[in-house]
Amino acid sequence: MENNMLKTNFLGMELKNPLIVAAGPWNRDGANLRESIAAGAGAVVTESIVSDTLMDVGPRIACDGCGAQNIRLYSDIQVEGWQREIEIAKADGGVLIASVSAHTPSEVAYLASKLEKYGADAIELSVSNPMLESLEVVASHADTIYDMTKAIVAAVKIPVLVKLSQNTTNISKVAKAAKEGGASCVSAINTVRGILGIDLETCQPTLSTYGGISGDYIRPMALASVATIAQTVDIPVSGIGGVSEGRHALEYIMLGASTVQVGTAVLLHGRQIIQKIIGEMEQWMQDHDHASIDDIRGKALANLKSFDEMRYEPFVSTVTGVPCEESCNRCVETCMYRAITKAGQNVKVERDKCTGCGLCTFICPAQKLSLGR
Ligand SMILES: Cc1cc2nc3c(=O)[nH]c(=O)nc-3n(C[C@H](O)[C@H](O)[C@H](O)COP(=O)(O)O)c2cc1C
Repeated sequence: MENNMLKTNFLGMELKNPLIVAAGPWNRDGANLRESIAAGAGAVVTESIVSDTLMDVGPRIACDGCGAQNIRLYSDIQVEGWQREIEIAKADGGVLIASVSAHTPSEVAYLASKLEKYGADAIELSVSNPMLESLEVVASHADTIYDMTKAIVAAVKIPVLVKLSQNTTNISKVAKAAKEGGASCVSAINTVRGILGIDLETCQPTLSTYGGISGDYIRPMALASVATIAQTVDIPVSGIGGVSEGRHALEYIMLGASTVQVGTAVLLHGRQIIQKIIGEMEQWMQDHDHASIDDIRGKALANLKSFDEMRYEPFVSTVTGVPCEESCNRCVETCMYRAITKAGQNVKVERDKCTGCGLCTFICPAQKLSLGR
């Protein structure tokens, strides 16, 4: 029996699930896009299509256990070539979003109108690139984002998504500019400018220039961006950054995202990760008796206060479930208030010293400590 609990209407498009394969080289041409569709994604986004394709450098992708750094520059296929690629991509159906990037409103509008004619179901405007400083400036420039969005919206009839960067001074301001320009959705976030590491023996940075960091490293920043955007503009949000498990996708949805995009996890684990994420989302929904993802969308936003709303709560750490059979002493060693002592398997918290900071409840590998009053 077909499972419909993840089915969703996104910007007027019927998606079988809210998991979209994000813009990147895993979607660099028709064949790859078709594979992403066949792997079960609700929709796919092309690698960003530009008017002047640029020469790639190498090496350009590095990774470690927490994510990746890349210095890949956009699609290497000219916009006209995308007519054939989109035909190939959609040969067996599927929802395709064409990503475009350029420096001027007229250029992005030109690209978007061509791609609409070639069969794209929606356009995603990518306004940033951590390698090209001029585009990082655009990412913070609300007026340019407004002008670019408006130009695309005037040129096409299909929905327009605007993909924002976390490398911006004020994401609310640029999200508002996208909405005012007529965007149907804001996507967030693109990769974050960074350096993955340095080889201490050779003094070499992992890649020889600044690049875009993606994967686990950026999920907390991306979640915050999505929540901020969801609280600021009343158009759908597509959450992106560090999704590799169903739980991550559900976190974005609970913070108000309508869809969730996955990139680096596909790069590092292959397309089989798509079904794994979808399966985990369905399992969680079943276990919690939710028939539709609409039931949980935005549910965590109500619990997200601004710092001004935070009040002093008289919490203290409480030991639950002694004896503690862990051989570690981490709760004692990390307590800044010297409130915790351990004698053998007996852990004690001195209530008058504990200030309820909460750290020990996260530090304890056996979860023997919790906050109470
Ligand atoms: C190798 C690579 C190439 C990418 N190329 C593009 C691109 O062409 N256009 C774009 O908007 N985003 C691009 N991205 C950004 C991703 O679409 C996504 O926003 C980002 O990687 C965060 O999601 P993730 O952690 O799931 O990868 C690229 C990311 C990587 C890792």
